[in-house]
Amino acid sequence: MKVTVVGAGAVGATCADNIARKELAQELVLLDIKEGFAEGKAQDMMQTAALLGFDTKISGSTNDYSKTANSDVVVITSGIPRKPGMTREELIGTNAGIVKGVCENILKHSPNAIIIVISNPMDTMTYLALQSTGLPKNRIIGMGGTLDSARFKYQLSSTLDCSPADLNAIVVGGHGDTTMIPLIKHATWNSIPVTQFLDAAAQEKIVNDTMVGGATLTKLLGTSAWYAPGAAGAALVESIVRDEKKLFTCCVSLNGEYGQKDICLGVPVVIGKNGWEKIIAMDLSADEQAAFNKSADAVRSMNDVLKTL
Ligand code: 2OP
Repeated sequence: MKVTVVGAGAVGATCADNIARKELAQELVLLDIKEGFAEGKAQDMMQTAALLGFDTKISGSTNDYSKTANSDVVVITSGIPRKPGMTREELIGTNAGIVKGVCENILKHSPNAIIIVISNPMDTMTYLALQSTGLPKNRIIGMGGTLDSARFKYQLSSTLDCSPADLNAIVVGGHGDTTMIPLIKHATWNSIPVTQFLDAAAQEKIVNDTMVGGATLTKLLGTSAWYAPGAAGAALVESIVRDEKKLFTCCVSLNGEYGQKDICLGVPVVIGKNGWEKIIAMDLSADEQAAFNKSADAVRSMNDVLKTL
């Protein structure tokens, strides 16, 4: 297996680090436009191999896509991150051009790759990747819901004082502060509905804190987060390269599912060797479906901005 991570910034490097530690690939290429940056990060990571005991070969490349040739999976993290007070949506003008160019370059050398999109605004960048490449829809996966679901479990586990690994909880819809929908009524603690343990105020707080999870960290860190976004990207790579068929919420192309079309939005999907392999239909309440439709409207108007660039 060969995996490429495009963008050697904090998210890309963390994603690569997770991929290497788990030996998800024999070969891992880190690519960045900044001269020597990816090479430096790759060498630094390789110097952990003897300490951590992995045998993935990591190499860096300054914008030379020939080094990424024949990658099975490519993770795109390129673009500018948000600064405190910025929304993910404000990044669209800069990041759209970057993501489109990266997709073109990747496919020249890895025509069969499965592409995972992390760059923001993630829903629109996933849609752009699909539209601009014309790839089969199963090969384009937006990471957002995987991260947001992990943040939701973090909020739930902190309140319930339980292990996050014992929780089943997902966030659907867009990957934006106001577009994501943490489905708290469906969340369980080892099959027991979490709503049994949380009053309405506690539920509302968990949902709100999840929705602004990224913004809270951006404020604390001065830039956007990287450990959980990087780990979420690597978890998707793992399910693909090991054909685990795990269920994650990912941003994928909808064609009538959940009442939406011509949009990429977060829904539960099975991730395996073919990319996203199927969309899982869940019964949403009328309120949840209304929130999903509202989220789709917001993402659709963001997608419309692409036409003006
Ligand atoms: C976040 O929510 C980077 O969008 C990512 O932290």
